[in-house]
Order: sequence, then structure tokens, then C-alpha cells
Amino acid sequence: MLNDLFQEAWKTLNVAASGKEHPFNFCTLATIGKNASVRQRTVILRGLTEEKSLLFYTDLRSTKIKQIKNNSNANCLFYDPKTQLQLILKGKIFVHTDDDIWEEHKDKIDGKAINNYNTLLPPGKPIKNPLKVERTHRLHFGLLEFIPIRMEYLKLKEDSNHLRARFRLDEGIWKQTFLVP
Ligand SMILES: Cc1cc2nc3c(=O)[nH]c(=O)nc-3n(C[C@H](O)[C@H](O)[C@H](O)COP(=O)(O)O)c2cc1C
Repeated sequence: MLNDLFQEAWKTLNVAASGKEHPFNFCTLATIGKNASVRQRTVILRGLTEEKSLLFYTDLRSTKIKQIKNNSNANCLFYDPKTQLQLILKGKIFVHTDDDIWEEHKDKIDGKAINNYNTLLPPGKPIKNPLKVERTHRLHFGLLEFIPIRMEYLKLKEDSNHLRARFRLDEGIWKQTFLVP
């Protein structure tokens, strides 16, 4: 049964990552900021590699990049209100710039999506008029690869028999156990 939960979790992430509409398209990504403060934000799940890395896009000048460069530890939280499934993944983030996987994903960005990476001023800078954001031809595109080492699965059940399980990567093998919910 633990195996089924593990498969369900990765299958669901895969569906969400492949662009189908799913609550797991949206991930709460937590990183560590100055003075060990916790920083969270919503990001869109853009892909899943065969090695179970999660891929996200961002502006290379965003604050999260500075945080990740300082401390690569991160957490990803997903929640589906329909199935009442919560997944929390713990891992490290690697920032890709100018390599093959970065190029492959950069080529997918077109139309309005370009505006997520081309502001003149870096994201988070104070401005006077939000309707007049200056843009350039330069794309500050960064690909975040989240490499998980642990996943916690929690599904709430109507009959209170909630299912909670932990999966931990140990020398290349995902070790698994149920937990008290
Ligand atoms: C629905 C939604 C989707 C978002 N998707 C992304 C995303 O894929 N990548 C990203 O960098 N920011 C995304 N954002 C913006 C972030 O939540 C955040 O405000 C921004 O990245 C700045 O974060 P930082 O200052 O911690 O770097 C999204 C926000 C919302 C509301």
C-alpha cells in the first residue's frame, strides 16, 4: 500500500507538470532568507524529470535566487482540495543558466510569458505606476531544479482514517513508512 501512495503522488505531480489543469500546478515554494527567516511564494510546476526533480521558472534577479545561492535547502508544498491530498517535499534547489535543459525550457517561453522575465528593473523594486512597467529585450530567465530527498504524503479521509506516510531517499532508494496522522 505504501508503494501505491508513492506511485499516486508522483503520478499526480506528473499530470500537473505536463500542463493539464490541476491544483498541483501551483506549488508553495519555501526557501531560507536572511537571519534564517522562512520565505514562501507560489510558483508554477513546469516539469518533472525522470530523476524526480521538479522544475520551476523564475526571473534570475528575483530575491529567491539570492536566497537559494546562499542556502539551497527548500520545501515544496502541494494541496488538492478535491482529494484532500497534501504533499510536502524537502530537498535542494539547483539554479540552471546557460546549459542544455535551461535552453530547452527557455525556447518554450513565448507570447505574454516573456513579460515574466523582461522588466527593466528587477522584480520586487518599488515603482510608481504598475501599469507602466518598463521592459527590455533581455530575458532574465532562470530554471530552478528542485531535487527532493524526502516526501510526506497526507490524505484526509471522511471516516478519520487519515493516511500519512513518509518517503525518504537513502542511498538512491526511497525508504517508506506510515506515520501517525
Ligand atoms: C498564481 C501565481 C503563480 C506564480 N508563478 C510563479 C512562477 O512560476 N515563478 C516565479 O518566480 N514566480 C511566480 N509567482 C510569483 C511569486 O509568487 C513571487 O511573488 C515572485 O516570484 C517573487 O518572489 P521572491 O521575491 O521570493 O523571489 C506566481 C504568483 C502567483 C500568484
